[in-house]
Amino acid sequence: MLKSGLTSASSFNSPAMRSSFLFFIVLILFLGFSKSSQALAPENESCLKCHTHQTITFHNTLTKREDKRLMNPLYILDKDHFASGVHAKFKCIDCHSADYSKYPHNAELKLEPLSTCLDCHGGDAKYAAYQFEKIDLEFQKSVHFQKSGDSFTCSKCHNQHYYQAKSRNSSEVGDIVKFSNEMCMSCHSNNSKFQLISDKLKPALSQIHEWLPNQELHFLNVRCIECHTQVVDSLSVSHNILPKEKALKNCVECHSKNSMLEASLYKYKNLQSRSKIGKLNSIIKNKSYVIGAYQNIWLNYISILILILALAGISIHVIARIIKK
Ligand code: HEC
Ligand code: HEC
Ligand code: HEC
Ligand code: HEC
Ligand code: HEC
Ligand code: HEC
Ligand code: HEC
Repeated sequence: MLKSGLTSASSFNSPAMRSSFLFFIVLILFLGFSKSSQALAPENESCLKCHTHQTITFHNTLTKREDKRLMNPLYILDKDHFASGVHAKFKCIDCHSADYSKYPHNAELKLEPLSTCLDCHGGDAKYAAYQFEKIDLEFQKSVHFQKSGDSFTCSKCHNQHYYQAKSRNSSEVGDIVKFSNEMCMSCHSNNSKFQLISDKLKPALSQIHEWLPNQELHFLNVRCIECHTQVVDSLSVSHNILPKEKALKNCVECHSKNSMLEASLYKYKNLQSRSKIGKLNSIIKNKSYVIGAYQNIWLNYISILILILALAGISIHVIARIIKK
C-alpha cells in the first residue's frame, strides 16, 4: 500500500506526468467554462430559497411561529438547469403572478392562466426559423392532443423553466438523444405526472419494447420520436406522435445504407459538419456510427488500423510486464 503510494508520488514528479496533469486541469477548466450558464435574475432568489428545497420554513401568521413544511417534489426546481435554459434571463414573475411573493400563496393563483409557447413566440419573425405555428399544427394531430385535448400542452414536454433547443445547437448525438428522451421519460416513467393527464397507469415501456434487442443501447442512441413520429421534411423535429400501431418496428429503416436517421436525428449534425469538415469526419466524430448505414471503405480501413494499434499497444504492455518480472 505504502509502496504503491510512494511510486505514484515519485512518478508524479516526472515531467511527462506533470504535463499530463496540467493538461487535465486545463481540460477541466475548459469544460467548466464552456458549460458555464447565465446568472439568474437576483429577484429569483426570493422564490428559489423555497423552490429548490425539500423542506421549507415560513412564518405562520396564524400561530405567529416559524413552521416547517415538506415541498411537493414536482415544485422543486433545479437552479443550474434553469440557468442553462433559453429563458434563463427571465424573472419568475415575468411568467407567474407577482402575488406569489406572499406565502402561503393565494389558492386562486393555481387557476392563473400561464402563457403558452405560441402566446409569446407565435407570429414573431425573430423566431420564424423554429416554425412554431407549423409545430403547433403537427402537435394537434398527435395522439397526446387527440386523446387528452387541452390538458396536454407544449409545456408538458418542454418545461419552460429548462427548455433548450438541443437538437439545433448540440453537436453530440448522444447529448441530443438524452435530452429528448428525458422529455418523454419524465412523464412515461413517472405515474404521478402521467396520471395528471390520464386515468390509466403508465404502460411498462421495457415490456412493450421487448421485441427490440439491446433495448438500453437503442434508447441511448435513438430518440423515442424516431420511431413514434413520421419525418416531416419541412420541420426539423417532427411533432406528430402517431398511434402506437403506426410506430416503427422495421429494423432496416435504420440499419441500412439509406437509414431514415439521416433525415431525422443526424440531420443537424450532417448539415453542420458537412460544410465544415466533410462527411467522413462528421461520421467518425459522431459516437453513433450505425452498423450498415454507412458503407465507407476509408472508415473500414481506419477501424482496422485502430484495431492493429490497439493490439500492438497491448502486446508491448504485456512484454514490458514479463521483462520487469
Ligand atoms: C416560503 C416558501 C415559498 C416562497 C418564498 C415561494 N413559494 Fe411558491 N410555493 C411554495 C409551496 C410550499 C408551494 C406548494 C403549494 C402551496 O403550499 O401553496 C408553492 C407553490 C408554488 C407554485 C405552484 C402553484 C400550483 O399549485 O400550481 C408556483 C407557480 C409558485 N409556488 C411560484 C412561486 C414564485 C414565483 C415565488 C417567488 C415570487 C414563490 N413561489 C415563492 C413555497 C414558496
Ligand atoms: C418562461 C415562463 C416561466 C418562467 C420564467 C418561470 N416559470 Fe414557473 N412555470 C411556467 C409554466 C408555463 C408552468 C406550468 C407548467 C405546466 O403546465 O405543467 C410553470 C410551473 C411552475 C411551478 C409548478 C410546478 C411545475 O413545474 O409545473 C412552479 C413551482 C414554478 N413554475 C415556479 C417558478 C419559479 C420559482 C420561477 C423562477 C425561478 C419560475 N417558475 C419561472 C412558466 C415559467
Ligand atoms: C412569456 C413569454 C414566453 C413564453 C411563454 C415562452 N417563451 Fe421562449 N422566449 C421568450 C423570450 C423573450 C426569449 C428570448 C430570451 C433571450 O433573449 O434571452 C425566448 C427564447 C426562446 C428560444 C431561443 C430562441 C433563440 O434562438 O434565441 C427558444 C427556442 C424558445 N424560447 C422556445 C420556447 C418554447 C418551446 C416555449 C414553450 C414551451 C417558450 N419558448 C415559451 C419568451 C417566451
Ligand atoms: C410529446 C412531446 C412534445 C410536445 C407535446 C411538444 N414538443 Fe416540441 N419537441 C419535442 C422534442 C422531443 C423535440 C426535440 C428536442 C429539442 O430539440 O428540443 C422538440 C423540439 C421543439 C423545438 C425546437 C425545434 C428546432 O427547430 O430546433 C421547438 C421550437 C418546439 N419543439 C416547440 C414546440 C411547441 C410550440 C409545442 C406545442 C405546440 C411543442 N413543441 C410540443 C417534443 C415535444
Ligand atoms: C425502435 C423503435 C422504437 C423506439 C426507439 C421507441 N419505441 Fe415505443 N414503441 C415502438 C413500437 C413498434 C411500439 C408498438 C409496440 C406494440 O404494439 O407491440 C411502441 C409502443 C410504445 C408505447 C405504447 C404503449 C402502450 O401499449 O400503450 C409507448 C407509450 C411508447 N412506445 C413510448 C416510447 C418512449 C417513451 C420511447 C423512448 C424512450 C420509445 N417508445 C422508443 C417502437 C419504438
Ligand atoms: C406529461 C406526460 C407525457 C409526456 C411528456 C409524454 N407522454 Fe406520451 N403519453 C402520455 C399519456 C397520458 C398517454 C396515454 C394517452 C391515453 O391513452 O389516454 C401517452 C401515450 C403515448 C403513446 C401511445 C399512443 C397510443 O396509441 O396509445 C406513445 C407512443 C407516446 N405516448 C409516446 C411519447 C413520446 C415519444 C414522448 C416524448 C416525445 C411522450 N410520449 C411524452 C403522457 C405523456
Ligand atoms: C430508429 C432506428 C433503429 C431501429 C428501428 C432499429 N435500430 Fe438497432 N440500432 C440503432 C442505432 C442508432 C444503434 C446504435 C449503433 C451503435 O452505436 O453501435 C443500434 C444498435 C443495434 C444493435 C447493437 C449493435 C452493437 O454494436 O452491439 C443491434 C443488435 C440492433 N441495433 C438490432 C436491431 C434490430 C434487430 C432491430 C429491429 C427489431 C433494430 N435494431 C431496430 C438504430 C435502430
